Amino acid sequence: MGNLAVVGAQWGDEGKGKIVDLVSLHYDIVARYQGGHNAGHTVVIEGKSYILQLIPSGMFRGGKVGVIGNGVVIEPNALLQEIRRMEAAGFTFDGRLHISDRANVILPHHRWREEEEEKKRKIGTTMRGIGPCYEDKAGRRGFRIADFIRSEFEERLRTVYGGDSRAAEFLSQVPELREKIRSYVCNCSALLAEAIGQGKRLLFEGAQGTMLDIDHGTYPFVTSSSCAAGGISTGLGIGPKHVHKVLGVSKAYLTRVGEGPLPTELNDELGQLIRQRGKEFGAITGRPRRCGWLDLVALKYSVQINGADALCITKLDILDAMDEIRVCTEYEIGNQTVTHFPASTEDLVRCKPVYRTFPGWKSNTFALRKLEALPANARRYLEFIEEFLQTPIAMISTSPERDDTVFYPAFDVLLS
Ligand code: IMO
Ligand code: MG
Repeated sequence: MGNLAVVGAQWGDEGKGKIVDLVSLHYDIVARYQGGHNAGHTVVIEGKSYILQLIPSGMFRGGKVGVIGNGVVIEPNALLQEIRRMEAAGFTFDGRLHISDRANVILPHHRWREEEEEKKRKIGTTMRGIGPCYEDKAGRRGFRIADFIRSEFEERLRTVYGGDSRAAEFLSQVPELREKIRSYVCNCSALLAEAIGQGKRLLFEGAQGTMLDIDHGTYPFVTSSSCAAGGISTGLGIGPKHVHKVLGVSKAYLTRVGEGPLPTELNDELGQLIRQRGKEFGAITGRPRRCGWLDLVALKYSVQINGADALCITKLDILDAMDEIRVCTEYEIGNQTVTHFPASTEDLVRCKPVYRTFPGWKSNTFALRKLEALPANARRYLEFIEEFLQTPIAMISTSPERDDTVFYPAFDVLLS
């Protein structure tokens, strides 16, 4: 009985929140290992929708323990507001939510700096101060939760900000924030080591997606953390041998928010149709997402980077209306065929997708829960994805609701 990682296999927003919530049933601890409140993980339970940014998505089930690891960047106000919002909705976290004393803290100047940088060179970030906080971390001038909860921290911050009036409000909040945060703080590496020793099962929740990973994504149009499965070990302080299985989550098409190359983007009515049907607007920022056909060159790369054991395909029902469905199997640059995902932006913007076309199924798959109930054309499309990637599908999501999911035999292997 092993531990499982659920990671985004595209550019984020793949539906990781629903999947983590669903599979959390089988695990004891759910841990976030990177990112911050740039994430927007939606969980729908009995028609009610909850959006989580820092709290792990598996915590809706009573008794599950949540860990926010050292690799996450934490904005104290955002965390406390989220806890309060969830408590108002009837969930309690006392004693079962833990944040790492080694996580870096997002401070006001991170947002100021990001505003300046986005004006100079647009990445289309979520403007949460994520990138500048990770910059300070790598530059060895950041502050961690362990610093934040010390009484002299306010004084240290006053020195950092001098008399900058923009910081006044935050500085006045620090003592209260510190007292509220303190009860959640722990050495998460030690907590996880003890849990592993007791035979507890861990579920790792990725934020963003592999194609936004700082090393492996479409750099420089990426986030500043290690979203792929490789980030789990450093982001939580556990040995890599404790990551047993990896589930890559991908939409049946693709989306991206912000700038950066996207070879299969549809800048036409079809793209708009997908956006409309899929409600492809940012959960946190409300920005319209760019939509396109599934890109198997990118997904193959993502499967490789993560060592994905299986895939979860989400939002299949959004394609129900399509006469035909396309999937990109390679690119062309001039008269050259490209089968590996290029590193450079210049190459990527020149890539013309080569498509394989499938007939649509033109029938309703919304909320289906049985494999036998999937239309033959949908199954053919899904089989092609499995064959092309040499990776089994473990589950298909047919609505945002927890239980509207089709399980494949590979799901049991994933849980074993
Ligand atoms: P979840 O976890 C989709 C994108 C931003 C921008 C780039 C850098 O919900 O899948 P950042 O603020 O992180 O420095 O922005 O990354 N981005 C996401 N896109 N889903 C997310 O999270 C994202 N988090 C960041 O739009 O292009
Ligand atoms: Mg999101």
